[in-house]
Amino acid sequence: MNFHIVVLAGDGIGPEICAESQKVLNRVGEIYGHKFEYEPQDAGGIAIDKYDNPLPEHTLKACLAAQAVLKAPMGGPKWDKIENKKRPEAGILGLRKGLDLYANLRPVKLFKALEGASTLKPEVISGVDMLIVRELISGIYFGEPRGIHGEGKDRYGVNTEIYRTPEVERIVKLAFELAKLRRKKVTSVDKFNVLESSRLWHDVAEEVSKGYPDVAFEHQIVDNAAMQLILKPKSFDVMVTTNMFGDILSDEASMLTGSLGMLPSASLGGKVGLYEPSHGSAPDIAGTGKANPLAMILSTAMMLKYSFQLQKESDAIENAVENVLNKGLRTADLAGKGEKAVTCTEMGAAVLAEIK
Ligand code: NAD
Ligand code: IPM
Ligand code: MN
Repeated sequence: MNFHIVVLAGDGIGPEICAESQKVLNRVGEIYGHKFEYEPQDAGGIAIDKYDNPLPEHTLKACLAAQAVLKAPMGGPKWDKIENKKRPEAGILGLRKGLDLYANLRPVKLFKALEGASTLKPEVISGVDMLIVRELISGIYFGEPRGIHGEGKDRYGVNTEIYRTPEVERIVKLAFELAKLRRKKVTSVDKFNVLESSRLWHDVAEEVSKGYPDVAFEHQIVDNAAMQLILKPKSFDVMVTTNMFGDILSDEASMLTGSLGMLPSASLGGKVGLYEPSHGSAPDIAGTGKANPLAMILSTAMMLKYSFQLQKESDAIENAVENVLNKGLRTADLAGKGEKAVTCTEMGAAVLAEIK
């Protein structure tokens, strides 16, 4: 089969890890008889440089016409002085909104070979396998009013967290549907004891849970949830939460897998899914060969599964990643003291060679 994919190669380490994921995908195509056609487009920092716009209209149009979008991280210090509305990050939010991607799935799964790679004790994290379901196109990231006003000591910044009932219903329902395919437990995370938007979230989640008597359900307040993630990470199956809490908790949870460089993601909801690693453009290591391409490669595995229904091919990528880790290959973020680190390209090539 032929698949048309818009590729947004991003900034910083983006192009480096994106190239490796495309090579791996091509190999999957050769072995399983598919053709992946890539349409490169610009968004983020590179689009600001070229078009003075982090999300040019033609890019969004191309994404809407594709079968899936493969996106590398965007942003970096070069664009840090720009006002928020025109930053690379605004392009990312525009993409998510423009494609109606209300659900961001961030699987937090520890590969056995990496039990020693985390800063956390192996006995605490061994067997961790959870899914963070993050609401992606509402909440404080999109609420109005927002802005910076006034001058000098009177200068102030304002943002608004707003959740509407249907926005919470659809994401919590999706979390329950996904939990039915897993260990059948949902933890809804909010701050209902302080925030009204969270009280609404809490009430709606509670109501939705009544439709799923076979799935265990619990609420957790976000500060406690942050602590439980480190204390008893295996107690989680599916965690569903707001846009901002999901952003923060997923970076925290990535350390349960050994590195932020291991955390893929799928953004779903509209006609076209978007696949990107959970991490950023890592400007501190861009161009050094130190980037871990596995989160990006695992994001392509999610694309095969969720957008193309190619489960076997998706498994082939995950198995290849598992095999290279079992063989002891480690990028710098995963390598322990005295362990030799391979480069981004070497890691990509090793995964490619393991595709069966
Ligand atoms: P970051 O995730 O880029 O980096 C945090 C730390 O993790 C750094 O030390 C970095 O070197 C390391 N790291 C991240 N990914 C890695 C990988 N694959 N391999 C090895 N090490 C890795 O976070 P930041 O520094 O706060 O953000 C940098 C820029 O990225 C900012 O402009 C931010 O807005 C942007 N960002 C973009 C996305 C996205 O496009 N979805 C996501 C997060 C951050
Ligand atoms: C992420 C990133 C983005 C977010 C930024 C870069 C807009 O941190 O995808 O986790 O906050 O959603
Ligand atoms: Mn983030």
